[in-house]
Amino acid sequence: MIESAPIHWFEQVDSTSEELKRRARRGALEPVWIAARQQITGRGRLGRNWVSPEGNLFVSLLCTLPEGVSVATRVPFATGLAVRDACISVLPGTDFRLKWPNDVRVDGAKLAGILVESGQTESTFWVIIGIGVNVQVAPDNTGQASTSLVDLGAPPETSPDEVLLALRMALARRLRQAETGFDGVLRDWSMSAEGLGQMVEAGPANARQKGRFEGVSEDGGMILRLPDGQTRIIRAGDVDLIGDV
Ligand code: BTN
Repeated sequence: MIESAPIHWFEQVDSTSEELKRRARRGALEPVWIAARQQITGRGRLGRNWVSPEGNLFVSLLCTLPEGVSVATRVPFATGLAVRDACISVLPGTDFRLKWPNDVRVDGAKLAGILVESGQTESTFWVIIGIGVNVQVAPDNTGQASTSLVDLGAPPETSPDEVLLALRMALARRLRQAETGFDGVLRDWSMSAEGLGQMVEAGPANARQKGRFEGVSEDGGMILRLPDGQTRIIRAGDVDLIGDV
C-alpha cells in the first residue's frame, strides 16, 4: 500500500530516483519513498538536470505494478493529477495546469516536474516515480519560466514535508484510480490540461511537428492533428503551445 509505504529522508543524495534504482537492482522491490533535502545530480526528463536546492521537495516512489505496461502508461497522468491535488491542498483556488506529458504549471511557469522510469525482473514490473516540486525556490531548470508554491502565495514556512504528506495520500488515490482504467484519469487530466484543442509544436528535438493537440491515445501518447488532416501520435519529447496560426 502506497499510503503506508515508509518514507526515508536523506539530507543529501545524488538523486532520489537513482537511490531507488540501486535498491531495485538489488531486488528490494517493496514500496518505499525516498525523499531528500538536496540532490547533487537531480535528473529531469530528456537527460536534463534538475537543480535541487534545499527548500524544495525531491522525492521518488518505487512500486510494483502487477498489471505491467498497460497501467504504467497511465502513471505519468495519475502522478500529474496527484501533484496537482497536493498543490491545491496547499494553495486552494490556484489554477494549476498539467502540460503534456506531466509538468505542473501556473500561468505558464513550471512548478513541478515528474520523471517516471520502469523496469522488470523475471516476475515483477516496477516503476520509479520521481517528483520535484518547487516549494520555496524557483530554479531555472529547463530554460522555461518557473515558479514555486511560496512565490504563488503559500506561507514562507511551507515545508517539503507537508507537501509530501499531501502528495502521499493523493498519489495513493490517483494510482488506485489508474488501476481501475484510463477513462477516469484521462477525464480528470483533460479538465486540468494546458493546450488541449490548441495549436502546438511537439515531439523529439529532431522531429518536431506542428498541429492541433486533439487528445491522448490509449497508451498515453499525444494525438496531434497535422495541417494536412492526418493524425500523428507523439510519444516523446516536449510540447510548446504556439497559439492559433
Ligand atoms: C522534469 O524534467 O520535469 C522531471 C523532473 C523530475 C525531478 C525529480 S526530483 C526527484 C526525482 N529525482 C530525480 O533525480 N529526478 C526526480
